[in-house]
Amino acid sequence: MEFDTLLSARHSVRDYLDTKIDGAKLRKIIQQAMSAPSAGNLQAYRIYLVHGERAREEMLAATDFQESVRKAAMLIVFSADQKRSESKYHERGHELYSFQDATIAAAYCQLAAVNEGLGVVWVGGFEPLEVARIVDAKSYEVPVAILALGYPNEEGEATGRRPLKEIVKEV
Ligand SMILES: Cc1cc2nc3c(=O)[nH]c(=O)nc-3n(C[C@H](O)[C@H](O)[C@H](O)COP(=O)(O)O)c2cc1C
Repeated sequence: MEFDTLLSARHSVRDYLDTKIDGAKLRKIIQQAMSAPSAGNLQAYRIYLVHGERAREEMLAATDFQESVRKAAMLIVFSADQKRSESKYHERGHELYSFQDATIAAAYCQLAAVNEGLGVVWVGGFEPLEVARIVDAKSYEVPVAILALGYPNEEGEATGRRPLKEIVKEV
């Protein structure tokens, strides 16, 4: 998909068909997510692919029973690896870069999935300690984002954006 088309086609999709995502497609999406920039190329994040029935049930509760989480073909959790980042960047790595690494990988992942014909919603409303427990994350990790994804059963709606002047300032 053309980049312009991809950006304008991407809307949050919260309803999905009951169709699995095949392994080759998933691998491609994850590799594209991993092509994101990262501080010092430390890639201070982890990715958890959540398919298992029990884990899915627990994730549903950890996300306050959001329908998209219930309906998605799968969930992907992006977790900041503070230890990996602080090894080089100390406090800034611990507090900031690991979170940025995880976040930008999730953003790439969302676009990569849309490019593959999938519908995706970013789920930020979750209980982080509970999500960390479910995916068995290390004590130095912090889950920062969940993507719910699947073949779309809706188009998603175009949402408005603020006028440029509320966001951009020339200095
Ligand atoms: C940090 C973050 C947290 C979000 N959390 C949720 C969420 O918990 N549940 C949900 O349905 N959508 C969530 N969203 C999706 C936003 O609601 C959505 O991106 C926004 O309304 C703009 O719509 P669009 O994605 O269709 O452009 C989140 C998005 C971001 C970036």
